Amino acid sequence: QKHLGTSSYGRTIDYYESVQSTQIIAHDAAQAEAADGTLIVAEEQTAGKGRLSRPWSSTANKGIWMSLIIRPSLMPQQAPQMTLVSAVAIVRAIEELTQLEATIKWPNDIMINGKKMTGILTELQSDPDRVKAIIIGIGMNVNQGEDDFPDELKPIATSLKMATGEHIDRAKLIAGILNYLELYTKMYEKHGFGPIKLLWEGYSNTAGKRVRAVMLNETIEGTALGISEEGLLELRLDDGSVRGIYSADIVLQ
Ligand code: BTN
Repeated sequence: QKHLGTSSYGRTIDYYESVQSTQIIAHDAAQAEAADGTLIVAEEQTAGKGRLSRPWSSTANKGIWMSLIIRPSLMPQQAPQMTLVSAVAIVRAIEELTQLEATIKWPNDIMINGKKMTGILTELQSDPDRVKAIIIGIGMNVNQGEDDFPDELKPIATSLKMATGEHIDRAKLIAGILNYLELYTKMYEKHGFGPIKLLWEGYSNTAGKRVRAVMLNETIEGTALGISEEGLLELRLDDGSVRGIYSADIVLQ
């Protein structure tokens, strides 16, 4: 809890040695009225989950596997943008602690040297007109070495330690992330998505690039223009039309 300067985020921490998924525990806790800012963190996940129900590799003691329960005053349709708010907060915290320049690959990947270092999974509990809770799941590769990753991840995954050559203090990094996350969430609640969008576009490696967007039923190519107020990725297609993409896997060309 070094340097935690928040008013609510991370003020309650449930710490586990080993769990299936912190995300599942956080959902149950949120349903049981856990307070705004409650953090679930584990040393190891035996069934970590990624976006689109993919598995998420969560080696023991080396990464940050955590789920934060927040109860912001937002409308349910404003919840998906919390993935982008979180990405900006994480990049800022990494920058501050390590001086590394991480970039954001839309929607939820944080990249270093072209490899994935962090993934974010944002899930919502809501009434039709009101957010009850948002669960922000963050999986970060921190102190892994190349050998800690399963073979299929070796070409595409990296860790902070691999990028800096140094062991990273995970507690410090968590505190930094929570500080920025609380700050930026408040900014989003008060001033809308405009200021976050600007920050996001500054850190993005996607805006301006030629990309292929692989969706469930189709694949399209175009130039990424930026993100919309709703957090959609805007692509200019070759016929000149502009299309907003809600969810896809992005391949940078
Ligand atoms: C992705 O890039 O697909 C998102 C990965 C999110 C992983 C984190 S680790 C902590 C939390 N618990 C989970 O089971 N998943 C998220």
